[in-house]
Amino acid sequence: MAPFAPMASGILLLLWLTPSRACTVPPHPQTAFCNSDVVIRAKFVGTAEVNETALYQRYEIKMTKMFKGFSALRDAPDIRFIYTPAMESVCGYFHRSQNRSEEFLIAGQLSNGHLHITTCSFVAPWNSMSSAQRRGFTKTYAAGCEECTVFPCSSIPCKLQSDTHCLWTDQLLTGSDKGFQSRHLACLPREPGLCTWQSLRAQMA
Ligand SMILES: *[C@@H]1O[C@H](CO)[C@@H](O)[C@H](O)[C@H]1NC(C)=O
Ligand SMILES: *[C@@H]1O[C@H](CO)[C@@H](O)[C@H](O)[C@H]1NC(C)=O
Repeated sequence: MAPFAPMASGILLLLWLTPSRACTVPPHPQTAFCNSDVVIRAKFVGTAEVNETALYQRYEIKMTKMFKGFSALRDAPDIRFIYTPAMESVCGYFHRSQNRSEEFLIAGQLSNGHLHITTCSFVAPWNSMSSAQRRGFTKTYAAGCEECTVFPCSSIPCKLQSDTHCLWTDQLLTGSDKGFQSRHLACLPREPGLCTWQSLRAQMA
């Protein structure tokens, strides 16, 4: 069930929110892919169980596909639970959809063999993603992980600090992370030492 913060502690929790404001802007999907230990597609099949002692909650999931994490999970490739802090105020992920057939892309970190996510994690309904993004997760983003960096630009002037960076300006231009660069582009090597935005559509050919 949803963790519910009583009104009395609401003000205190608000103060705690400040350090986690970075969590309000989700990463570019390529960044999410590259920085995560495990990337899967899964359904949320159970209600969240809260562990009062450890202050985390876990969601039961059914994994339908794995895109990243094969080597890290060699011994236990079937993930049945994802773990997150018990409260949204400390970046706990709260799953809002009740639909147990709906598939989600989930990118998270491994810790002690458990998959962990926070509100900063990339968690998105598979059906809401562009076909280019799906292609990115299944295939293309990986090609940019080693050399290229999606570099967020949130205020003008933005300056390219390296030839292997691609400036991510979606927040400036659209005020959201759902902009064109997020939905259609990947930052990929063009030649050694140089990365550029490239259309994921072109990669499909
Ligand atoms: C809650 O977490 C603690 C510490 O990780 C663990 O020892 C305990 O077994 C957990 N309780 C339940 C009910 O899972
Ligand atoms: C639940 O999700 C499935 C798969 O995305 C979809 O086909 C179905 O219409 C959804 N059901 C509801 C009630 O939204």
